[in-house]
Parts: sequence; C-alpha cells; structure tokens
Amino acid sequence: MLRTKIFTILVLVQGVFAQNILEGDRSVPIESKDGMVVTSHFLASQEALKVLKNGGNAIDAAVTAAFALAVTQPRSGNIGGGGFMLVSNDKTNKVIAIDYREKAPAAAYKDMFLDKDKNVDKKISRFSHKSAGVPGTVAGLALALKKYGTISLSTALKPAIKLAQEGFIITPRFYKGVLSKEKRLKKYKASKDVFFKKDGSAYQVGDRFIQKDLAKTLKRISKYGAQEFYTGKTAKYIVEDMKKHGGLITMNDLKNYSPSIRKPVHGTYRSYDIYSMSPPSSGGAHVVQILNIMENYDISSLGHNSADTIHIMAESMRRAYVDRAEYLGDSDFVKVPLKGLTSKAYAKELSKNITNQRTPSKDLKAGNAPGYESNETTHFSIADKFGNVVSNTYTINFSYGSGIIVNKAGFLLNNEMDDFSAKPGVANAYGLIGGESNKIEPNKRMLSSMSPTIVKKDGKNFLVTGSPGGSRIITTTLQVISNVIDHNLNILAAVSAPRMHHQWFPDEIRIEEGFSKDTIKLLEQKGHKVVQKKSMGAIQSIMIKDGIFYGAADPRRSTSSALGF
Ligand code: GLY
Repeated sequence: MLRTKIFTILVLVQGVFAQNILEGDRSVPIESKDGMVVTSHFLASQEALKVLKNGGNAIDAAVTAAFALAVTQPRSGNIGGGGFMLVSNDKTNKVIAIDYREKAPAAAYKDMFLDKDKNVDKKISRFSHKSAGVPGTVAGLALALKKYGTISLSTALKPAIKLAQEGFIITPRFYKGVLSKEKRLKKYKASKDVFFKKDGSAYQVGDRFIQKDLAKTLKRISKYGAQEFYTGKTAKYIVEDMKKHGGLITMNDLKNYSPSIRKPVHGTYRSYDIYSMSPPSSGGAHVVQILNIMENYDISSLGHNSADTIHIMAESMRRAYVDRAEYLGDSDFVKVPLKGLTSKAYAKELSKNITNQRTPSKDLKAGNAPGYESNETTHFSIADKFGNVVSNTYTINFSYGSGIIVNKAGFLLNNEMDDFSAKPGVANAYGLIGGESNKIEPNKRMLSSMSPTIVKKDGKNFLVTGSPGGSRIITTTLQVISNVIDHNLNILAAVSAPRMHHQWFPDEIRIEEGFSKDTIKLLEQKGHKVVQKKSMGAIQSIMIKDGIFYGAADPRRSTSSALGF
C-alpha cells in the first residue's frame, strides 16, 4: 500500500520536475558495487566516475566533480564561493569536516549594509562587490586533496579546464537559468560577455558554451597551485575589480584566507549515528536537534507525510529555528552552545510543549520575514570501494551569486555577506532572522544552513546526503533521513517524496506539490497555515547496504545524475 503510494508520488514528482532523464530508469535507485557519484550535473558525475574507475578515491572524485560543476553549472558550482565537505572512512571510523566557507574581508563592519536611516540596503548586501566574502572553494578543495586524496590538483582540474575551454552543450536548465537572471547578469560587462552573445541575445539550447577566461584561471591554478588564486594573477584580478567597484576584498584578505578542519556535529537518531556540519553552519546542529525532538514520537506509526507527522515535524522545526536565530554564528567568534542544542534532554524539554495544535511562532519569539526564493547551492555525494564517502555542499549563495563575474578571471563572485545578520531581528534573503551571534565582524564566517551529512549504522557508512535550498537545506536533509529510517523508503523514494518546511517565521508550513487536500485540511484544523510553493532542494544521496551503493539523484533538477560502476 505504502509502496504503491510512494511510486505514485514518485511518478508525479518526476512528471512535474524531471524534464530530461539522462541515464536510464529513475523509478529505482541506481545500484553499483565499486563506486557511486551523485551530483546535480551529469557532466560532473561522468568526470568524477572516471576518476573512481581509474582507481582514485572518493575525495579525488569529489574535487574533480567540484571543479567540473564550477564550469558546467555556474549558477552554484563555483570557485568564487565556499562550502563544507564531510569525509568519512569506514576503516578508521573517523568523520572529518572541511570548512571552506567564505570569510568577511578585514574591512567589513557590523553596520556596513545599513543606509542613513539604519535600514538594510539589500542591493548592497546582495548585488554589489561588497556582498562578496573572501572565497574559500579553491583552498578548501586543495586541502581536501592534499590530506585525503591521491591525485594532484592539476589532475583534478583537467576535466574542468577542458569543459571550460572546449565548451559543453547548453541544456534547457542552463538556458532557462540564465534567462531567469538576465537583468542581474547583464549589469556588469564581464558577466554579460560570458553569458550572452555579442548582440546581447542568450545562447540557445544546443549551443556550445565556452568560458575562455575561466579556462585560463583554472589553468593558472593547475600550473601554480591553489595559492595562485590567493596571491597570483587571479587574486590581482579580484582586487582590481574590488577597487574599481567599491568592494572590500584586498590582497591581504586573499593571502590570509585558510580553510579549517573541524569536528562535525554528532548525534543519534533511533540507533543511527548522524554526522553533519558544525558551525559556521547551523545545519548539523539543527538537523540533529530536530531529529532529537522527533525521536520523542513514534513517527513511523504516525505515517509518512500524514498530518500528524507533518505537525510534529513543523513544531520541531519551528523550535529549532528560534534557537538558530539566537545562538548560531561562527564558533571562532562566538560561543555556540552546541552540546546543549543537540542534547536529548533539551529536545525532550522542547517536545513537552508541543501539543496537538500549532504553537503560534509569535509565542516563541516575534519576528517578521519576507520570502525571497533561491535554491542555488549545490550538493554532491560520492562513495568509493575503499570505504570512503564524501558529502559536499558548496555555494555562491544566490543563483549566480551577486551576478558579478570577475573581469578577466571568468568566474562569478558569491554574495554570501548577505548570510550575516545585517541588522538584528531583520530577516536575510531566506527569511532567516539572525541576532548578535551572526553580526558582521572582520574575518568572520557568515552563518550557513548547509548540511552535508553522513549517517552511519553500526560504525559503517550508511547514508550520504545533503542539499541546496537556503533555509530549507536543514529540513530537506532531515526529511530524507526520516524517510529512510522511520518510513523505510528506498533512497530514491526518500529523495523524491514531497517535502514540507517550517522555519519559525514566516509562521506557515511550506509544502511542495503532492500533498493531499485531506492532509492540508487536517493541518489547518490544527491551526497551521499551509502554503504550497516551489519545490525545495536537490538532495543528491547515496545509501549503502550490504556492500551495495544505491544512488538517487533528485528529480527536482533535470540535470541531476547518479552514476555507478
Ligand atoms: N548561502 C546559503 C547558506 O549557506 O546557507
């Protein structure tokens, strides 16, 4: 019965979201034994799979995929942004996190985005050179490779250089993405020259997209190493652009950037171990916190996506997002009470005031949030035959970041400075309210929601997952975990099933298409406002069971691709 329901949902979701199925039957997960790659672009998946087939490990494949995505999916794949990578090895039973999140430039300050009336100037925080944090991607990927990989940086860059130099064929998703941000991408000449033809028209589906400047930048990094980006010609191009347009990043900021190796957040959910990203991401803390609250209920018996389950999830999420606003920030700058937030006792306490009816968000704490839309971060999951798995999420924040390509360097700048709390109590682009913990400070990392996650069962890698989606990343990720653990869904059904989201403010349950009218009615009877909006996230996942990899590419992205061998 449940299986039939899930299959119907799957077909429905695929019908709605998947325009372009590229590798076989998507009604079951892709299965393989020696390696699995799941990314949001088939060209990146193909290149990463070649690395595994040639004997490389998951970290080699991950770095190769990340550089390939920077070329084939410039809306979120990047070298101008930052992210987080979790690496786990079955043999050592260790999980480590590489934090290559962007940092505020040294000249950044608390009120830098406030106008003369002390209101947040969103144009400056989101679409100017000041909106860029110091990029971390190149340093982070190089560190991952050096510590855990087996191939050289130049080998990992080779496919990306080829894709940038020789180009690739434009897909409908690429074409629609550029058109949807035409205004933003035409504002600066360097961006316009990359994304549009000389006459200003858009490249069409089937055209070849070549990025000459980006190819040169990648070649320089390949020849001189990651430091080229931070001290060489590329750094000079970034700083020239900053000086010309009032940006803050200096040569010193770039020279001083370094990624960090961190201990991931660890929690448990019904005998599974959950590892996810620690601050400066809020992801791990709240994935674990929400699952801890849910553990107080028999979610499995309440049923998959039933009104009762959605109610419990929404109330758990609402409470976690209150804490996010209060406590979360860069732990190098503020004390984040991680132990308390992720403790079972605290979750039990929070669950005590969850009733059968909605708790109005205003009773937990007041706030007011707009609903800006962006899903443009990208996640990939990789597993190899040596027992390694990699869960990586990286981003330039919005779709195409600030829309600003660095002149002569060919890559987009992030607009991650908007993830700071520009003014306490005022929501950022995702409607997320922040406070003092996430205020702007020099060299500080802005708070993230990215939640690359690895779930282990009896000490062995079991689930590798993560998603884009701004504030929805946390809730997307934990729903896939619950779908597998509580509802026993196969990984593709878990990834494809319609999702819901609550983030305290706005005080509403946001749902995707695919929930029944009856369910919505029952939720409304509990006092909830239920709003159907665009699809949420693109959760590229792998499940590992009895030595077999099961890959599930999220059908919400038409270029998503799971490939195994
Ligand atoms: N820029 C979105 C995030 O890091 O959460």
